[in-house]
Amino acid sequence: MDWKKIYQDRLVTAEEALKHIKSGDRVGVGHAMAEPTYLLEEMVRMKELYKNVEITGLVPGKAPYAAEGLYEHFKPKMMFLGTATRKAVERQEAEFIPCFFNDVPRTYRDVLPVDVALVTLTPPDKHGYCSVGISCDFTKTFADTGKIVIAQINKHMPRTLGDTFVHVSDVDFFVEYDQPLTELGAPVIGEVESEIGRYIASMVKDGDCLQLGIGAIPDAALQFMTDKKDLGIHSEMISDGVMNLMEAGNITNKRKTLHKNKTVVTFLMGSQKMYDYVDDNPSFLFYPVDYVNDPRVIMQNDNMVCINSCIQVDLQGQVVSGSIGLRQFSGVGGQVDFVRGALWSKGGRNIIAMPSTVKGKVSKISPFITEGSSVTTSINDVDYIVTEYGIAKLGSKSLQERARELINIAHPDFRAELAEEYERRFGHKFDYNKQ
Ligand code: COA
Repeated sequence: MDWKKIYQDRLVTAEEALKHIKSGDRVGVGHAMAEPTYLLEEMVRMKELYKNVEITGLVPGKAPYAAEGLYEHFKPKMMFLGTATRKAVERQEAEFIPCFFNDVPRTYRDVLPVDVALVTLTPPDKHGYCSVGISCDFTKTFADTGKIVIAQINKHMPRTLGDTFVHVSDVDFFVEYDQPLTELGAPVIGEVESEIGRYIASMVKDGDCLQLGIGAIPDAALQFMTDKKDLGIHSEMISDGVMNLMEAGNITNKRKTLHKNKTVVTFLMGSQKMYDYVDDNPSFLFYPVDYVNDPRVIMQNDNMVCINSCIQVDLQGQVVSGSIGLRQFSGVGGQVDFVRGALWSKGGRNIIAMPSTVKGKVSKISPFITEGSSVTTSINDVDYIVTEYGIAKLGSKSLQERARELINIAHPDFRAELAEEYERRFGHKFDYNKQ
């Protein structure tokens, strides 16, 4: 059948499409900046039609369904928290599901299938294919497996290349509504972040393949890589810093041992400039997250260097990244996927970087993890920890050696109390000069 006819037959208003959501359904929503914001706002406007609709996904965008007072209508159950869903969890109006990012597509395909998928797609190309754009991750899984697929067709969504395409015949309802994608504000890079960035950059060699987490530290690290040659990217996500180094010629992907010449990602968040940059750009490959974040795929990149952040590290090297005590802050995301992939990569390094304190008041290196916190990266997987005071190598080191390494990169104000704990634990004097 002519795809143009299919498209026209299925083109409806948001209200017509959203009436197909039933009370008690599980609704999967597109990820991060690819959230179909217009559809979600309309769904909230129509809230009286719904009772106990479960809303699921990962990093939410604006998440209007998570606003106060909507819980009898919408029950968010998310695998990662952002500002709106974190507040909803704190009000006990949302729940959190722990899940490795690489395992999210399998979970939605085989265990928690969605009744209705709400996604953003580009307008169809001349062959009748729409692209999921800047969020391939599990948004593609929702589009492929939702029992009912409702797409907001948004001309502002970049058409990205890789495994991002959905044929119009696989979508049940199209709602045309153009709205600029939400942009990620530029991170604030202070002195501490710059110092950490300098240490990280000193660990990166020409030809390395990088994964970068979100935030100021990865961007600060990239700022100190302007003298590097032929870097590659295989990363769950990227933002503007990667674009800047691609444009400057430091990232060429030429020496990658998997997907040579291509920047491989599963999603991105950045400025409008970046959204324009990836549009129809053959130097990028977007794949679903069960491919990009599979440690067995990641390890095929030689010299894989992954750079992530955390909330707390204890003296054994247990890394907490998603919670502060019992308060769920974010989730595991792709941290462990990349930590493992880098560990198994020939010449790989995994780096967890963080400021040494929370605003100078609390040491992030601590004798014990806070009661109630869940460990993200275990003592068996951890390798390098970086603060503004230096680099601690923990992989292959004893518990005593780890503690010494960590105390030496803790904030000076907290070293004495950490040293006291060391002496209590290991029965001998802490020597500041001994690694
Ligand atoms: N004790 C108490 N509170 C702490 C803390 C500690 N040791 N460390 C951080 N916090 C608080 C901060 O004060 C801040 O609180 P606020 O939001 O109320 O101000 C909050 O935790 C976040 O800290 P911040 O330093 O601003 O976080 P960030 O934006 O740099 O993100 C992570 C750091 C760890 C939360 C983030 O990297 C993450 O979620 N990681 C897990 C997922 C992941 O690594 N994915 C990989 C690829 S994207």
